[in-house]
Amino acid sequence: MPDITFPSHKIKLLLGVCGGIAAYKCADLVRRLIERDFDVRVVMTAAATEFITPMTLQAVSGHPVHMDQFDAEMEAGMGHIELARWADIILVAPATANSLAKFVHGEADNLLTTILLASNAPLILAPAMNQQMWKNPTTEQNLASLAKLGHTILGPGVGEQACGDVGAGRMLEPLDIAQRVQAIAFAKQSLAGKTVVITAGPTVEAIDPVRYISNHSSGKMGYAIAKAAQRAGAHVELVSGPVHLGDPSNVVVTRVTSAAEMLQTVKDKVANADVFIGCAAVADYSPVEVFCHKIKKNDEQMSLKLQRNTDILAWVAAQPNRPYVVGFAAESQNLREFATKKLHKKKLNMICANDISSDCLGFNSENNALLVLFDDGSEKILNVAAKEVLAQNIIDEIALAVGENDSSINRE
Ligand code: C5P
Repeated sequence: MPDITFPSHKIKLLLGVCGGIAAYKCADLVRRLIERDFDVRVVMTAAATEFITPMTLQAVSGHPVHMDQFDAEMEAGMGHIELARWADIILVAPATANSLAKFVHGEADNLLTTILLASNAPLILAPAMNQQMWKNPTTEQNLASLAKLGHTILGPGVGEQACGDVGAGRMLEPLDIAQRVQAIAFAKQSLAGKTVVITAGPTVEAIDPVRYISNHSSGKMGYAIAKAAQRAGAHVELVSGPVHLGDPSNVVVTRVTSAAEMLQTVKDKVANADVFIGCAAVADYSPVEVFCHKIKKNDEQMSLKLQRNTDILAWVAAQPNRPYVVGFAAESQNLREFATKKLHKKKLNMICANDISSDCLGFNSENNALLVLFDDGSEKILNVAAKEVLAQNIIDEIALAVGENDSSINRE
């Protein structure tokens, strides 16, 4: 997302409405946005007009609705370039699978897509579509590309759909969207002024100069969280085990190898942190003795004496002036039960649990799905999505918890 520097006048919000059944909720959405002091103008795609009339949105917004790219009268008044320049922020709700695909490829075949291409305003997308369309790998890839470009993705929600299906793909409720857009617009950068320390990747515990003990971890989730925190305005310290990923820009990266090094670096960094996110797959044990020469094999069995490594996450949570502490739990069974135990045992504020029994999620995959549990007993399900999308969702949740002006926002 481009740097957000909003002017002191009312924030000018351009609402793009695409053609999905959720468009019928846009009258309410416009009212909720106006209640929150946005100056709202509406652009509709042709398909959107099948679901809600321009007259309705004109009546609630108090301004003519823009639809036609080649309407000479509109262009003479406020044309597509003026609209693109006018907007301080653009919200597309509902954002259909078709329109998302067009945005990804920079198509400019209708007024809305043309405005999006012509504007550098921050873009917020509230996807809505059938659950099977949402799950389609093409849509997943499109969402990942949009998130990588820094656009904000709100939702979708889960539940019963107009077509009778049940699953992920519902547009978030208008009130929820309006609150989240308000938080983004008025809080500007939700973690501005905050310091966030993140661990990522595996640790590697040497046995001898050749062998080691380690865990599966690509580091992708932790790196995606570091990028999302940086975009949210935080000063980010990333303490990374060995991974094949480049340093995210504007993030301070300290590369470590062993759990002991990771612990020491975290100790050095965490004193002034507002948030600590333990995303690393830290080895639980390390060899008591590290051999300085390669151990020669023989025909006998071999035992290695291992010692417990300090739990870095629990160590941070036990400090007197602790930051907001977020952990991860990779479980192959009893996800909720084991994650809840970890949340309490390690005294965390929030835990993101993922089921590692599925081959196509977690570890080295591009995607993940998370059950997020909070210390106040609430929870949130983040459905299968690219790690970039989930990272942004996690940062949004953390910002809600540690932000100053966000207390009015509901978790779904
Ligand atoms: O207990 P378990 O290893 O499943 O907990 C996982 C969480 O604890 C992760 O957030 C991980 O980063 C953190 N952890 C840690 N130090 C360890 C072991 C786990 O920070 N030694």
